Amino acid sequence: PVAGLIDRFGRRVTYVRLSVTDRCDLRCVYCMSEKMTFLPRAQLLTLEEMARLGRLFSELGVTKLRVTGGEPLVRPNVIWLFEQLGALSGVRDLTLTTNATQLGRYAGALRDAGVSRINISLDTLIPERFRAITRVGEIGKTLSGLEAARRVGFQRIKLNTVVLKHRNHDEVVDLVRFAIERGIDISFIEEMPLGVIGDHDRAEAYYSSDAIRRDLAEHFDLVPTIDGTGGPSKYFQIAGEETRVGFISPHSHNFCGDCNRVRVTALGRLLLCLGQEHSSDLRRVLHANPTDDDRVKRAIVAAMDLKPRGHAFDLQAKPVIFRHMNMTGG
Ligand code: GTP
Ligand code: 5AD
Ligand code: SF4
Repeated sequence: PVAGLIDRFGRRVTYVRLSVTDRCDLRCVYCMSEKMTFLPRAQLLTLEEMARLGRLFSELGVTKLRVTGGEPLVRPNVIWLFEQLGALSGVRDLTLTTNATQLGRYAGALRDAGVSRINISLDTLIPERFRAITRVGEIGKTLSGLEAARRVGFQRIKLNTVVLKHRNHDEVVDLVRFAIERGIDISFIEEMPLGVIGDHDRAEAYYSSDAIRRDLAEHFDLVPTIDGTGGPSKYFQIAGEETRVGFISPHSHNFCGDCNRVRVTALGRLLLCLGQEHSSDLRRVLHANPTDDDRVKRAIVAAMDLKPRGHAFDLQAKPVIFRHMNMTGG
């Protein structure tokens, strides 16, 4: 009915992150608590409902869809969803955020479905640290998943590294070298206070993007670029290399002013901001309108008025968002 999604602050929403499951085969310390209870499967949107939402969003002007989780590739039949989303003519960028453990199995099918880029979470190159950060993981699986994605021809791969003081902050130079050797990009992320996690104090673990940049500047020539992917990362080119280094800095360089995205959780809750609870229950609307697409689109358009100006993260305060990242759509 309406062309385009625009919020009260004039921001145009063209990017939707679809979380297809809250489950994951890893338990990263910044994402989950050690003992997580996962959602009952019966409450999740079906893949058909997600495909329908993807189509409706694209008809409303969304051009970029990112499938996230939890870990998206643990959801049974998720490749079917990628095939549906990849066939949408309005979608120019179909992307995946993954921990890569299952890419050995799925990389070829994802490429065939039309996935244009893959973001892989990798916080360390040291096996013992990888186990400590993911609590249960083995680095070999993630590294071989990354190689599988390269082998089937994915050229636009980005590593995502959440930087935590004393856990991995001393590895940023090595991680950039690792990315350069493979001709891929890397983004460093300041940890966001979502959910109670237990293992570390988030204020004490804070390591700012500026500190990382200083560390990198001793080894590399970082040239600011204006190009981006429509996400929150601010990119620098490593002079003479293919690799770009991005910084996602919710604390030190707030990027809410040009936010272009919303999320749909695995429960079908349309979250207007990752760091606020403003939301609209699309699952209810989908169920009430199994064939009336216009009604669902109107609900999506109306929800844009709920999008807040930005997050209000405060590392010094007690957490106010109790939803963990795996329920949020990273
Ligand atoms: P591309 O730019 O498309 O490569 O992806 P991206 O960086 O937007 O997404 P990705 O899934 O790689 O997420 C990287 C980090 O950025 C994660 O920690 C996300 O939670 C974070 N992120 C993405 N969008 C937002 C946002 O709107 N607000 C905040 N605070 N963080 C975000
Ligand atoms: N803060 C910042 N990034 C996080 N991620 C998961 N939890 C957090 C958090 N609390 C990252 C993952 C993944 C991306 C989708 O979100 O490492 O790369
Ligand atoms: Fe799983 Fe990603 Fe959360 Fe780690 S950050 S536990 S890989 S969903």
